[in-house]
Amino acid sequence: MDKIVIEGGKPLNGSIEISGSKNATLPILAATLMTEDASVIHGVPDLQDVATMIKILRSLGASATFAEGSVHVKPGRHIEAHAPWKLVSTMRASICVLGPLLARLGRADVSMPGGCIIGPRPIDLHLKGLAALNADISIEHGYVKARAKKLRGAEVYLGGAYGSSVLATANVMMAAVLAEGETTIINAACEPEVEDLARFLNAMGASVQGAGTHMIRILGVRKLRGAEHRVISDRIEAGTFMAAAAITGGHLLIKGSDPSHNTALIDKLRQSGVSIATHNGFVDVRGKAVQPVKITTLPYPGFPTDLQAQITALMSVTKGISVVTEKIYPERFIHISELGRMGAQIFLEGGSAIVHGVKKLSGAPVMASDLRASAALVLAGLAAEGRTEVYRVYHLDRGYEKVEKKLEKIGARIWREKA
Ligand code: EPU
Repeated sequence: MDKIVIEGGKPLNGSIEISGSKNATLPILAATLMTEDASVIHGVPDLQDVATMIKILRSLGASATFAEGSVHVKPGRHIEAHAPWKLVSTMRASICVLGPLLARLGRADVSMPGGCIIGPRPIDLHLKGLAALNADISIEHGYVKARAKKLRGAEVYLGGAYGSSVLATANVMMAAVLAEGETTIINAACEPEVEDLARFLNAMGASVQGAGTHMIRILGVRKLRGAEHRVISDRIEAGTFMAAAAITGGHLLIKGSDPSHNTALIDKLRQSGVSIATHNGFVDVRGKAVQPVKITTLPYPGFPTDLQAQITALMSVTKGISVVTEKIYPERFIHISELGRMGAQIFLEGGSAIVHGVKKLSGAPVMASDLRASAALVLAGLAAEGRTEVYRVYHLDRGYEKVEKKLEKIGARIWREKA
């Protein structure tokens, strides 16, 4: 198992290229199952989660290869309906094969993904949406069993206790594409990744309108064909590098990212005194955060939960008291105790982290607990005095492509060692 070692305290300077979006790639790869034709997806990041999704496609009978940022998938005529626990349990996003399998085969047996370290992650909205499209759903022996002689379009309300759901919207949208008649998804997730999936489905011959808003209209079609698609860039990776510039007081040109996907973060960074200029396709981030902020995570276009840990790390060295409230996953605060080991002063009060900015963090051995928490610890290590060792970096490898190489290129003293 590897660890990441960082000698902190050096401002980052230079330009950095953002990779393709993990969370756009995963449901798009699942959608390739909806036709027997070949599809090609470009701009795919080389990440553990992508490798897991490719394994799942293969276990379902598709051929899938990944080379130089492109995945070639050919499901062929016969695919399986059974997505096994052994694979699904390693990645929650595997649940997004449920809609495509049901749409194409009329049946799907997909292992229940279970919870995870960031808190309970139910799938009731996925199941409610598919049931509204005329599927029979049951849970048996840890598997979701979905059956439908004929999926039928319907009006589906997808709001949950914490707002809209990204992958429930994706699953219902994919199933509705091959359903008979019209489907309207109300309170759909508006995330750019949902919009990207709709673009891919439309390139396959689907008729999806309104993706990127809270109301998506889908007119069912009988068949889809293979398509070629380039995924959008990763807004969470871009946001993490913006925070890296701000926590080290550096100057980064973040290329290949769409600033309009990070409006909430950019707004908060500006409020905290970081200078940000946006251009078409890149963001210029300069200087340190100097003012505390109040942040609440919300569904897009609100402040993303996937940047909550990183902004908390940034505020831990920003003078004053910041308040970071988590409204998507109220238990997603495991990183706080590890940041505390580096000298951060953060107190949990209900679903909020009260962050008292300190002058300096000091490097320490720390344990990553999930993907975004790992990123927060790396950020803290970049700003800290002395040596930080981040253990369990396999979490980081699930979602950040070549992170230490990218950081090294912009001046960080960072490397990987065997733990
Ligand atoms: N929820 C329900 N019922 C459901 C589904 C979700 O109550 O059936 C709740 C969740 O518990 C949560 C909220 O709704 O409180 C939003 O969850 P959502 O369904 O939107 O999450 P997701 O689709 O499973 C995606 C990302 C996550 C990201 C969330 C929120 C992918 C592959 N994953 O998950 O990304 O945190 O949306 O934006 O797209 C990550 O990349 O680190 C990551 C965890």
